[in-house]
Formats: sequence, C-alpha cells, structure tokens
Amino acid sequence: MAATTPLMSTYGRLPVAFSHGDGAWLFDTQGRRYLDCLSGIAVNTLGHNHPDLVAALREQVGRIIHCSNLFEVPLQTELASRLVAVSGMTNVFFCNSGLEANEAAIKIARKYGHGKGIAEPEIVVYEKAFHGRSLATLSATGNAKVQKGFEPLVGGFPRVPLNDAQALRRVVDERPNVVAVFLEAIQGEGGIQPASLEYLREARQLCDERGLLLMIDEVQCGTGRTGKWFAHQWAGILPDVMPLAKGLSSGVPVGAVVAHGAAAEVFHPGNHGTTFGGNPLAMRAGLVTMAVMERDDLLGNATRVGDYLVQCLTQTIGGLPGVREIRGRGLMLGIELDRPCGELVQRSLDAGLVLNVTADTVVRLLPPLIFTREHVDHLVERLAPLVRQHLASSPAPA
Ligand SMILES: Cc1ncc(COP(=O)(O)O)c(C=O)c1O
Repeated sequence: MAATTPLMSTYGRLPVAFSHGDGAWLFDTQGRRYLDCLSGIAVNTLGHNHPDLVAALREQVGRIIHCSNLFEVPLQTELASRLVAVSGMTNVFFCNSGLEANEAAIKIARKYGHGKGIAEPEIVVYEKAFHGRSLATLSATGNAKVQKGFEPLVGGFPRVPLNDAQALRRVVDERPNVVAVFLEAIQGEGGIQPASLEYLREARQLCDERGLLLMIDEVQCGTGRTGKWFAHQWAGILPDVMPLAKGLSSGVPVGAVVAHGAAAEVFHPGNHGTTFGGNPLAMRAGLVTMAVMERDDLLGNATRVGDYLVQCLTQTIGGLPGVREIRGRGLMLGIELDRPCGELVQRSLDAGLVLNVTADTVVRLLPPLIFTREHVDHLVERLAPLVRQHLASSPAPA
C-alpha cells in the first residue's frame, strides 16, 4: 500500500501538532492550549521557552554549534565538572541520547570484564526494563514487543525480576561471567516501577562483594525528576556507571555516561567515540539547565509539587475501585489502573492535558520541574473525572 506520509511508520501519532510552548503550557497549530504533564517524555526540564535557556542558546548558536571531539571542548569539561560535583562520581563521556549512553555503559561493562580475563562477559538485566532501541539496548530491554522482529538479539544479558534480591544473588552465583548489574532506579516505560531503596542497597553490596559494576540507568528518572539530582541518591548509594540523557539539556539532544572507580578508567583513545556528542550547543543547554535547577531549587520543587500531586490524586481518585496504586517519586508518577487505559491519552488531550499511558494500565505523569501547585490543581480537576468515567465505562478485569 502506498504510504500517505513520507515519514516511516514508527509512531502511532496523535493528531495534534504543537506550534510553541510557554512554561508548562503547549499551544497547538489551531491555537488551543494544553497543560504539559509529560515534558516530551521527561525532557523539557525547564518547561518551554525558558528565558535563560533561550538567551543562552541564541548566544551559543551565534558563537559555535559544533567542532568535533578531535579538539578541546571547554563547555564539555564544564558540564562534566558539574555532573561530577552533583553525582560524587569522577568522569563523563557525552553522547546524544539515552540509548547511546546505555550502549557506552554496556561497552564499559564488557571491556571491564575482558580486563578481568572474562572472554564472554554477561550483564544482569531486568524484567520490564527499557534501555533503548539499538540492538544491544533492545536486547537488554525486558519487553518482547520491543525485541520482536529484530532477532537474533545480542547475547549476554541474563534477566531477573526487579526487587528480588535472592534472584539477583542466585544469578550472580550461578553465572561466573557476570560482570555488571544494570537497572533503572525507577523503571519508566515499564510502568513507573521503583527499585526499592533496600534493593538498591543490596545490589550495591552484592556488586562490592563480587567486584561487579553497578550500572544505574537514570535516563528517565535522573536529572532532578525525583527531587534529588539522581533517583538512586535516595538510597544513599553510588553506582559505578550512570547513563543520563532526556532532561539534562532541557530539549537539546544530549546523553552522558558518568562513571567512577575502575569503570571510569576502562575507555582509552580509540575505544569509543561520537561525532556530535558533547557539542557546544548541547553542553551549553546542559549547563543552563543545571544552573537554573540549582538557582530556582527545582529539586525541592519536584518534591513539594510532586507530594502535593500525589495528595490531590489520592484524595480524588485514590479510593476508587479500579485504581490500583499511585506511585513514584517527585514529578515521576504513575497511576496504575486494574485495566487498560490507553484511551485516556486522547481524552486527556481533548480536555487540554498532555500525558501518557505506559505498560497498558499506567497513566504516566512527567511534568516539567517548574510545575506549580496551580498546575497540579488544573491537572487534577480535569484528570480525575476522566479516570472516573473510564472506570465506569470500560469493563473491569475478569
Ligand atoms: C530508562 C531509559 N533508558 C533509555 C532510554 C532511551 O533513550 P533514547 O530514546 O534517548 O534513546 C529511555 C527512553 O525512554 C529510558 O526511559
């Protein structure tokens, strides 16, 4: 059949095009206003059209956009220093996206394993995980739909359920080639499923005992979203490797893999690289994003406004039969229903809300970190009736 669009058919797109945004608001080409409760999937940390970001990017575009990693890029060093300062880790490699950051992490783990004389190193991964859509990262992903049609998958990823410390110990005991444990501190695509703080501590301890790298994918849950710079910091642990992307540069494509200890010393010239990664434009965006987050206490804001959002949701829909759980942390929240609820995305859009449903049954809220209590009131006033209607009109699970 002839294609009706020149775009490849990778997305079932909603019939809305946004022409511009302002703070937490988006405007479509017809002039309708929407409250952005998704931030382009955890990307627009500072919302839209933030004056500091716009001014810095305008200035940067007029100065230099790209120059290649064959040369010194001072803005890279500056942003790496900021990331090192807030993470407690030591070294950074910049790339352009979450999957690239995860690819770099996987390469670090494999090379670390080779350094220990393990010819076929393995990395423990998780059920329901999402790490990206390159061949290695989709193989590490715990979702058959993402993998189907792209076999043969990349090998060397034994899989365990999240929050089952015994299962983790068992796989490490049984497989001498395991060199790393790779997980999201809060699974995003998997339905806002947090690794418990206890589990994160146990994973850290096990990795310490066995000389394994603990690699925490903070692509979605990092960069302030949960009220700390990185979600694993709630557990008081330090990973060996931390991939970042999404919110770090507030919308300019960026990725980063942050490392410390032995993991930070694995790569040498020629082992890894990128043409665009770490370009001055993306670095400037990252620096401004972090500076505004700090100046305006957006971490504190994520906690305060996130708590208020949970409170409002709990009061309005928390007790409804059919609402299984409201969970997450800061401004990374999920409302799990007992039935599929994909239709809520279009209905919310009709009501002037941009949000998302993931893992079939979870309404996912990832608003910009500039969200206020007034935004929360606006959101809950519109979303609560939609959830109620959905539960009343769609069949309950058998
Ligand atoms: C936890 C996690 N890791 C990796 C990725 C992949 O990031 P990207 O789409 O930038 O490649 C995502 C994207 O949703 C993610 O949520």
